[in-house]
Amino acid sequence: MKIIIDTKENIASLASDQFINLLKRKPNAVLGLATGSTPIDTYKQIIKKAKEQNISFKDVKTFNLDEYVNYPFYEASYRFFMDDNLFNHVDINKENTHFPSHENYLDYDNQIKACGGVDLQILGIGANGHIGFNEPNTPFDSLTHVTDLQRKTIEDNARFFSSIDEVPTKAITMGLTTIMNSKEIILIALGENKADAIKALVDNVGVSCPASILNGHDNVTIYCDKAAASKL
Ligand code: PGA
Repeated sequence: MKIIIDTKENIASLASDQFINLLKRKPNAVLGLATGSTPIDTYKQIIKKAKEQNISFKDVKTFNLDEYVNYPFYEASYRFFMDDNLFNHVDINKENTHFPSHENYLDYDNQIKACGGVDLQILGIGANGHIGFNEPNTPFDSLTHVTDLQRKTIEDNARFFSSIDEVPTKAITMGLTTIMNSKEIILIALGENKADAIKALVDNVGVSCPASILNGHDNVTIYCDKAAASKL
């Protein structure tokens, strides 16, 4: 596991380079994508670099990590987030963009496999150590599944809604084994509220910090700003 401590701006630049370099090598790459505040700057840089360097997404396939169940309005969905922050700004074929749902989740891992597996997965991390919506104590052998969000996650995500009562309480998420099946993984942590989770990840505490499963993967880069790395 490589750990890189840098500024928020440099992290977005380095992480976007990993995506752009992959697409140069493999124009039909399979990308694992994440929502939340953390990857937004990376997506901005990917859009900018793809334009400048004429990188096409027309043969790219994407699989998002998670999606809410029963989101209260379309703009709260992760599909909307991805359209808004990435897909509407590159030449991707939306039919090649996938989200887990009640209808497809039992087959989601198979769909990923059928496309050749995820080449590069980007992750944020929850303040409680979750990756995707794999909350603490999710079994390490989990595949894509329906999950109840923990109170901490609901509180953290309330900032995207007008009231905490609007935040969905269930989601569908790739499992921890689904994530570990990716060929390469980037995890980005920004801000002091991620410092405990990053320490638990690096200390490899086990199921109480789901992200600590990443210690068992041989191609992971963890990007932290100074605040997120402050407890290492
Ligand atoms: P954030 O969420 O990027 O909005 O902090 C990260 C996560 O919960 O995985």
